[in-house]
Amino acid sequence: MRGYAESSPAVTRTIDNMPLIEKFWMFWATPWLEKVQRVGEFYWLLKTQYYYRFFWGHIGKRSKIIQPMRLRNVHNIQVGVNVIISRFAFLITLQESETVVPQLTIGDGCRIGHMNHIACIREVRIGANVLTADRVFISDHSHGFSDINVPILQQPLKSKGEVSIGEGTWIGENACVISCHIGRNCVIGSNAVVLGDVPDYCVAVGAPARIIRRMNPESGPKTVNR
Ligand SMILES: CC(C)(COP(=O)(O)OP(=O)(O)OC[C@H]1O[C@@H](n2cnc3c(N)ncnc32)[C@H](O)[C@@H]1OP(=O)(O)O)[C@@H](O)C(=O)NCCC(=O)NCCS
Repeated sequence: MRGYAESSPAVTRTIDNMPLIEKFWMFWATPWLEKVQRVGEFYWLLKTQYYYRFFWGHIGKRSKIIQPMRLRNVHNIQVGVNVIISRFAFLITLQESETVVPQLTIGDGCRIGHMNHIACIREVRIGANVLTADRVFISDHSHGFSDINVPILQQPLKSKGEVSIGEGTWIGENACVISCHIGRNCVIGSNAVVLGDVPDYCVAVGAPARIIRRMNPESGPKTVNR
């Protein structure tokens, strides 16, 4: 995938671009239990590439989607190359209006943790090489609840804005990211609830999330006065 999801050239050498012979020796040297696990992962790679790929909007080479997971409307989901989506994820796109087709994009090299819930009615863009820890929630909408006489489940979904997460960002365990833009190489602390935009190279923690550190690419990290 080009454009937003394109990988940074600065990404260090990984197992994926090792020569085949080196990969083999690495596999040979791993303990037995890990070998078995890797064989299992290879099964998911094959299943993703030769089966799921036909149903999703796009799935790039070397990406693997590890079941069980809950999926809805995967034809609106674009996944870049070399992405891993871990077990028990819940990925959902819903077309709420006739004119807006939801687009959920997961960029090249992303690692999506276990039990992540990613929901989209307009646009959710996750940039290249983003790492999400376990139980992360990302959404561009919430349930409407303005009518007190109707169960919330039956009220229409409301979007407060699209979500974008910049390349190289790390989102900690249990964090929620709702209708906001997070820049590149940011750190979102565990249990954070991010409701507002976070610029590039920032560390944000808490509920609601606040910026505690800005990492200037020239001068290094700087703690923010709180
Ligand atoms: C955010 C994090 C990376 C620490 O960043 P840091 O810049 O090193 O921050 P520090 O540890 O110096 O803490 C700075 C302040 O933020 C607070 N803080 C740090 N992490 C916090 C969090 N998750 N929630 C709330 N406050 C937090 C600290 O208590 C400290 O507050 P103080 O200055 O009032 O004492 C780390 O706390 C974190 O949340 N990591 C995510 C872990 C995770 O989910 N791992 C999954 C593996 S993929």
